[in-house]
Amino acid sequence: MTIMVTGGAGFIGSNFIFYDLKKHAGDRVVCVDKLTYAGNVSTLKSVKDKPNFRFVREDICNREAIYAIFEEEKPDVVINFAAESHVDRSIENPDIFLKTNIMGTVTLMDACLKYGIKRFHQVSTDEVYGDLPLDKPEMFFTESTPLQTSSPYSSSKASADLFALAYYRTYGLPVSISRCSNNYGPYHFPEKLIPLTIVNALADKPLPVYGKGENVRDWLYVEDHCKAIDLIVRKGKAGEVYNVGGHNEMRNIDIVRLICKELGKPESLIRYVTDRKGHDLRYAIDPTKIHNELGWLPETKFADGIKKTVSWYLENRDWWETIVSGEYRKYYEKMYGKRQ
Ligand code: NAD
Ligand code: DAU
Repeated sequence: MTIMVTGGAGFIGSNFIFYDLKKHAGDRVVCVDKLTYAGNVSTLKSVKDKPNFRFVREDICNREAIYAIFEEEKPDVVINFAAESHVDRSIENPDIFLKTNIMGTVTLMDACLKYGIKRFHQVSTDEVYGDLPLDKPEMFFTESTPLQTSSPYSSSKASADLFALAYYRTYGLPVSISRCSNNYGPYHFPEKLIPLTIVNALADKPLPVYGKGENVRDWLYVEDHCKAIDLIVRKGKAGEVYNVGGHNEMRNIDIVRLICKELGKPESLIRYVTDRKGHDLRYAIDPTKIHNELGWLPETKFADGIKKTVSWYLENRDWWETIVSGEYRKYYEKMYGKRQ
């Protein structure tokens, strides 16, 4: 099977490529990535010389170039990880989120219609459901929870989901969608809470916590997300949405404290800073459907996953030091410089 993985030089896409090439040695994987600030070709160094792997630097919005790749590779399956993925950046500059997350997805689906495909899988997010109250722990997002987005990022992802479902109904394109909760693990870009906290703590820098740190996220180890996508693509039904999450809700402040403990750093590094605009309070996924229909269950417990993740950042300093010493410095100054 030839699988086109878009956004494969980013966090989850790269982890998916490693997972797929290990699990399905007969697959050919074609990674299409624009290499934005979030994409890093060095992430793919362990697979780049495999005969059944190809990397193409391209923008999913470039219709002509995308059609040419389809013409040449004739993929059986396309898994779309490519996106602008950071909520804070979407608040600063929504425009690129509309382009990549909506127009890019539609361009890929047009190519799928033109060249034929067994499955187009859209990697979506639990953020399309908006948020849940902090004081109602019995509430969860199910696949039928209405879409009610808060940020430009989540609005762009929800739009892409609606286009994907429209392409299924209107044109019969075999589409599936996964909506996963927050991932963590190796190769996570250091602008996101967990890697940012690890990287700052290692340098004894302040650890910024938005608002009171009481917002809740539902954390899943990245490999468990990859397993879910692999199952959906091979055994899930077209036209369906699958929620993915491991019932692992934690407050942000507890995550930051845990990382301090793992690294032996003092909690005095923690700084409560200005809250994110429109900050979603709580995410919590009900994964009953994917469990009942496809037998998926998360395998990595948070206590083990966070230890593995911290160790990975300790052992792979080159990877993130290169990132945080470049353009990222300007981003950090812009986002956190005036945030008191
Ligand atoms: P990421 O920001 O780490 O990686 C995104 C990748 O997409 C990068 O390699 C980037 O270069 C590439 N890209 C961006 N614009 C592109 C374009 N126009 N053309 C081609 N490539 C482009 O993101 P991630 O955290 O790995 O997220 C991957 C997908 O999973 C996204 O669609 C995101 O919405 C979704 N998701 C993420 C999480 C999470 O916790 N990180 C959870 C649920 C869903
Ligand atoms: O839920 C899935 C989503 O998870 C994905 O769709 C997004 O692509 C991904 O980025 C992630 O979004 P979040 O906004 O939840 O992740 P982030 O790591 O940016 O923030 C996690 C929480 O931590 C959130 O409540 C904001 C808070 N935070 C974040 C940063 C970067 C802080 O308190 N301080 C920070 O410096």
